[in-house]
Amino acid sequence: MTLSLICPTKYSAPWVAAIEAIAPEIDLRVWPDDDDKADVTFALVWAQPEGIFAEYPNLQVISSMGAGVDNLLQDPSIPEQATIVRIVDPRLVSQMGDYVLAATLNHVRQFPTYAQQQQQQQWQPLQPRNIDEVTVGMMGLGQIGRAVANRLAQAGFQVVGWSRGAKIMAGVTVFAGKNQMQDFLSASEILVCLLPLTSATENILNAETLAQLPQGAYLINVARGNHLVEEDLLSLLDDDHLSGACLDVVSQEPLPQEHPFWSHPKITITPHIASLTDPVSVAPQIVENYRRMMARQPLLNQVDRQQGY
Ligand code: GLV
Repeated sequence: MTLSLICPTKYSAPWVAAIEAIAPEIDLRVWPDDDDKADVTFALVWAQPEGIFAEYPNLQVISSMGAGVDNLLQDPSIPEQATIVRIVDPRLVSQMGDYVLAATLNHVRQFPTYAQQQQQQQWQPLQPRNIDEVTVGMMGLGQIGRAVANRLAQAGFQVVGWSRGAKIMAGVTVFAGKNQMQDFLSASEILVCLLPLTSATENILNAETLAQLPQGAYLINVARGNHLVEEDLLSLLDDDHLSGACLDVVSQEPLPQEHPFWSHPKITITPHIASLTDPVSVAPQIVENYRRMMARQPLLNQVDRQQGY
């Protein structure tokens, strides 16, 4: 029984240290030096090389190192018998809330405009809008989207939400399903995307949906780059239907050097840092799931493969 870390794009040392500190009994290995692969029953993965699971004949559990499992679920080599789990962590939620609140306030208080003014040594006060007059639309009301919507409402914004199925939230007007999408979009002066990426949500931010936002609306995408049709965003910014966008995720990461987003005056880019998993904070749930696997008990934070989250 071995736990293997398969995370070619991440530095594995902090993960190994965090797990060893609380569960020294676990036989822990790091891909690609994790021979013999037949011993591995639990894989902790991020951005795994596609097809890799075919090398592990005895996998019982595959745990994402993050909240998202879209990349993982696309891998055709996931064995039928393996249970997929993901990270659910209050710190991921609070970091996401910090980021979205910062991005919304940054936009409402016009920091990007003042940054441009500073470049030109221009002292030009602008009347700020009051946040209780600004409506933020939260697209995706899962574990993180719900919490961030509440955080924005507590901060004083008007908040509306949209999700696939109907939900009830105090202080947030919830729209559900395709039928109510247009009403949701037309109310959202700032649109925040926190949907899971699935075949149903890929390219959901496109010319048709973004055009339903009010004139001058602002987009914040903190979910996945493939939710957004990037050319459609550029045209809507260029013809001033949208006033700007803050993108923590893009369809190709890292964003290629020649990509127009880098130098677009209305786009703010951050390198997929809105919410980063802290190995020390999440090691206990990984170890708990490893122990549950050993004891043949139900695992925490299981993913429904059909739903895709
Ligand atoms: C980050 O993008 C995550 O899915 O945790």
